[in-house]
Amino acid sequence: MSQDHYFSPDPKVASRPRTIQVTLPDLSFELDTDRGVFAHGHLDVGTDLLLRTLPAVPPEELVDVGCGYGAIAITLGLRNPDARVWAVDVNRRALYLCARNAERAGALNVVPAEPDAVPAGIRFAAIYSNPPVRLGKESLHELLLTWIGRLEPGGVATLVVQRHLGSDSLAAWLTSLGHPVERVRSKAGYRVLEVHAIAASPHDGSRAR
Ligand SMILES: C[S@@+](CC[C@H](N)C(=O)[O-])C[C@H]1O[C@@H](n2cnc3c(N)ncnc32)[C@H](O)[C@@H]1O
Repeated sequence: MSQDHYFSPDPKVASRPRTIQVTLPDLSFELDTDRGVFAHGHLDVGTDLLLRTLPAVPPEELVDVGCGYGAIAITLGLRNPDARVWAVDVNRRALYLCARNAERAGALNVVPAEPDAVPAGIRFAAIYSNPPVRLGKESLHELLLTWIGRLEPGGVATLVVQRHLGSDSLAAWLTSLGHPVERVRSKAGYRVLEVHAIAASPHDGSRAR
């Protein structure tokens, strides 16, 4: 019996590629999707909402945490040609699709990578994620803290999470840790949250995180 999830490192389910068209007000491109990778054959409603909500970003280091076949990373790459967009996932089938999709869309600044392949010293101006909520709360929290902890001072993580999968309790938990959190959009049962780095204390000399 297969224990495949969309976050399996090497999905065992047989491949069945399907190409979808992403159409946004400013961009249109094709993406290959596959079984064993989140949102096979369609763009997730939450991802679509995130792509229509994204603010302008500085042309620096950006990361899409849990990139899947690359919808968010490729949109960021095309909209911000001077940025470097890390597209991070544990699912190798997803990374393969993301690399191929980025190349076909002409988003040559997208860098698909397993999480440990992103050099430890890199800090991000912005993080974007439709996070893997199905991992379970503890693993999800660990994942988010790892990446949010790599924001530059003043950096922002923009997350899309379904309300019934815990967006409001996630926002409350991040707030309890000292991260300013804003709900910037709410639609069709999804919330888009902006999570800000914790400002460095003038007394302890620590970096913002
Ligand atoms: C909800 S899906 C979103 C996929 C894609 N961004 C989209 O919007 O279609 C979450 C993704 O997170 C990935 N993921 C799970 N655990 C991860 C981890 N520890 N580090 C990075 N990505 C992870 C999953 O493999 C999955 O592709």
